[in-house]
Amino acid sequence: MQTVTTIAEVRRLTDAARRDGGTVGLVPTMGYLHEGHVSLMEAARRECDLVVMTNFVNPLQFGVGEDFEAYPRDLERDAELSEAAGVDVAFVPAVEEMYPEPIATTVTVGGVTDRFEGASRPTHFAGVATVVAKLFAIAGPSRAYFGEKDWQQVCVVRRMARDLSLPVAVVACPTLREPDGLARSSRNVYLGPAERAAAPVLHRALLAGRDLIDDGERAPAAVEARMAAVVDAEPLADLDYAAAVRADDLTRPDVLAGEVRLLIAARVGPPRLLDNLGVTIATA
Ligand code: PAJ
Repeated sequence: MQTVTTIAEVRRLTDAARRDGGTVGLVPTMGYLHEGHVSLMEAARRECDLVVMTNFVNPLQFGVGEDFEAYPRDLERDAELSEAAGVDVAFVPAVEEMYPEPIATTVTVGGVTDRFEGASRPTHFAGVATVVAKLFAIAGPSRAYFGEKDWQQVCVVRRMARDLSLPVAVVACPTLREPDGLARSSRNVYLGPAERAAAPVLHRALLAGRDLIDDGERAPAAVEARMAAVVDAEPLADLDYAAAVRADDLTRPDVLAGEVRLLIAARVGPPRLLDNLGVTIATA
């Protein structure tokens, strides 16, 4: 694995791979890697000739008072994990390399960003879309790998790629979980012992919502109420939202049908945790 810090070096390596007829796979991350990130790199390794992993804590996607400065970092361990996962090129730029001057151009994706994470973090998805567009322009991947863990982010990136005719397939990979169901996340390190024990309540709520759909419930409000009740029963958890929506554009139908996504966010102590689950309702 080669670790590079400049845009020019990434371009040199990816240009060479494409010139030789190879495909480039891109895995954007903010580092502090865990099994979830590793699964994306492994998927890219299986499907692409040159695998580029980017490790950049992107200030644009953090709001005022959010954890940009405190975001956990461990570059040495990240290098070991990404090398073991078969990454060819690790791009670890400084903020000055990505944003040498205050950025005047941002990519804003409408609609799908209105609710959920977009509602509580108004500038977050513009920050994500802008850095992802930049990384696409830098690496020129034919495939880019994202985790279902951040389902709304997948929807935002897919919509951006579609609207701007970007020549990249956005691949969504399944959520890696701890044995008790908690989705792996770099922010799980913020959980104290009691909060850690309470945190799987998000996954339990999603499973309860799915069970209700499996039993024939088709009203979003009923499924949402069931998920909320599971979270409310956990004293350490404070629900932000529980929603049953269309999987592709996150709008709420009158009657659940086809590809549905259950979305949930709650504070468990200070950390705010996210999770989601896909449910397919077969049409008779
Ligand atoms: P980060 O939170 O580091 O996540 C990088 C990628 O790993 C994202 O696509 C995320 O969905 C995926 N991921 C995180 N936890 C996962 C899990 N438990 N299972 C599977 N995949 C998981 O998301 C970002 O960084 C940033 O917004 C980024 C896209 C890099 C833009 O800055």
